[in-house]
Amino acid sequence: MAIDSVTQLLDKLPAVLKRDLEKNLCVCNEVSKMAIINAIAQGASTVEEVKKQTYATMGAGCCTQQVERLIELINGQSQDG
Ligand code: FES
Repeated sequence: MAIDSVTQLLDKLPAVLKRDLEKNLCVCNEVSKMAIINAIAQGASTVEEVKKQTYATMGAGCCTQQVERLIELINGQSQDG
């Protein structure tokens, strides 16, 4: 089930964001983009929740915007242009 829902979530992402899934989105804590997407798939709907589950953004916070963007895109709440 988890795999299916992750696949569905990935379908929502623009191609550019589906690349490099195995690479670290959070380089400070070595958290892969896929790990973050998985956390969102499992219900993390805020940066705080992603942080708790994956430790992403807990370094210098440099990936916070990218995590926010992934949450927005996956949850379909994008409000910025
Ligand atoms: S890259 Fe995630 S906190 Fe720096």
